[in-house]
Amino acid sequence: MKIAIDGTAASGKGTLAKRLAECLGCDYLDTGLLYRAVALEALRYGLSSLDDNFNDPLTKKLFEKSTRIELTTIALGLALPIADSPDLRSQKISSLAAIVASLPEIRQALIEKQRNFANSPPSKKGAVLDGRDIGSVILPEADFKFFIDAKPEIRAKRRFAEFKDTNSNQKQETILKDLIERDKRDSTRQIAPLKLLTDAFFIDSSSLNADEVLQIALNYING
Ligand code: C5P
Repeated sequence: MKIAIDGTAASGKGTLAKRLAECLGCDYLDTGLLYRAVALEALRYGLSSLDDNFNDPLTKKLFEKSTRIELTTIALGLALPIADSPDLRSQKISSLAAIVASLPEIRQALIEKQRNFANSPPSKKGAVLDGRDIGSVILPEADFKFFIDAKPEIRAKRRFAEFKDTNSNQKQETILKDLIERDKRDSTRQIAPLKLLTDAFFIDSSSLNADEVLQIALNYING
């Protein structure tokens, strides 16, 4: 079984994907971590000695040919699954990941890895993948497709609570601004934009907790 979950940043799609995989005995792949890992490596390789705001100078540098070749090599060398870590979850990496993810060659380099995981999951039972282009590009043949969204203010509040747990001093307004900017970048980019597909089941998680979202998704799968 293959399940595709797409949605906006901090909408709860990752939590749903993880829990669905547990319930169904499937494997879970957080595809956002792949783009985050490329972004982190880009920083480690010194591709950005630029300011923290990721304004024009960084974007320009990322779009230089030599940088793109280097990033593609990094993407091709990634081994799945990527171990999650606080470094990968920082606000800086979130923004950089969305820029990196708009480069066609990076997306191309990561397609086969994601498909291979879904086609040969370790459990042999099935796979749940979450991201932005899972239902549209990676697994158009998925048995079930979901699209998760919530009001931006609610998503920022949730992310703020998560960051507080990790002692980050991010302000909620900054988180909200970054989420809105990232959603815009993800849904307006030319390649594999985030979009609600006609064959996806839409869940607005604004007023739902994680258990309720899971139950709605399970009800849909079980018909
Ligand atoms: O899901 P997450 O917020 O961790 O993803 C980080 C970024 O990676 C997203 O904002 C998006 O730009 C990119 N991404 C993507 N396609 C995916 C998963 C993530 O473009 N399938």
